[in-house]
Amino acid sequence: MPDPSQFQDRMLSLGLARVSEAAAVASARFIGRGDEKAADQAAVDAMRRQLNMLDIDGTVVIGEGERDEAPMLYIGEPVGTGGGPEVDIALDPLEGTTLTAKDFPNALTVIALAPRHSMLNAPDVYMDKLAIGPGYPEGVVSLDMPPAERVRALAAARDCDPADITCCILERDRHADMIAEIRQTGAAIRLIMDGDVAGIIHCAEAELTGIDMYMGSGGAPEGVLAAAALKCMGGQMQGRLTFRNDDEIARARRAGIDDLDRVYGRDDLVRGDVILAATGVTDGSLLPGIKREPGWITTETLLMRSKTGSVRRMSYRTRDK
Ligand code: FBP
Repeated sequence: MPDPSQFQDRMLSLGLARVSEAAAVASARFIGRGDEKAADQAAVDAMRRQLNMLDIDGTVVIGEGERDEAPMLYIGEPVGTGGGPEVDIALDPLEGTTLTAKDFPNALTVIALAPRHSMLNAPDVYMDKLAIGPGYPEGVVSLDMPPAERVRALAAARDCDPADITCCILERDRHADMIAEIRQTGAAIRLIMDGDVAGIIHCAEAELTGIDMYMGSGGAPEGVLAAAALKCMGGQMQGRLTFRNDDEIARARRAGIDDLDRVYGRDDLVRGDVILAATGVTDGSLLPGIKREPGWITTETLLMRSKTGSVRRMSYRTRDK
């Protein structure tokens, strides 16, 4: 007997791909135009329009911000036709607004869907993140280890020299000590300007991307999206929220977080089965970006389901209106 819930899940995943494609297509004309806000707005509008066509009773749990600061796709916004399964939605209509505005690599659109109450309602604060790809013993690296020790532990598990390990890190002043410490081990570092969701997904396909480990702090909402991707593709992730002031602590408390020091594993960030779609906007080592030729626009999307571990790469061509 076919399992009807699985069938529905499959159909939904195709609908989800259309949502991330729509956001990418809408942002296409803003690539390299120096206007982050316009690029983001176009992606938000298109993602929301397409999302509201899906037969789901959805609630945005990771979105554009809290209701008073984001008019669209705010946290708590009901989305979908209201007619289907009750689901949580995590999204970033344009992950890498500056990358898009400057036509730098690895900007993408991303959306994940999971049963209701199965994704962490991450507040808009920073999260210390650590991720590696599949195939390593559980806990081989951890947030409690100093950065150099993580490199050495991963190298030992891979039976290679630390110099053969490549880490990906956001280029930020706050990471200067971490970068210096890793350099001491001889490991290589790929510094990225923005976009740590892509940075973390890179670990899941180390042979393709050349990235073995991701570490450093970035947005907590992006951390949930990255965990969703690793849950589908395989790989380990840890995240710990960090707070710069009382307002950020209050945000966490409003989101229902009591233990402020908790280290979340991948499956604490995303507890249920999840479907995720990500579409390339600018060319990257994970996904090619949008291609425009007279009259046509082509995108490539990664579509994945944690239930089966399936990962699909889908190319989509549409008229450039
Ligand atoms: P935007 O797409 O909203 O510009 O975010 C990009 C990003 O680089 C995220 O990938 C990352 O988690 C966060 O910003 C890092 O924040 P900050 O720029 O404050 O270091």
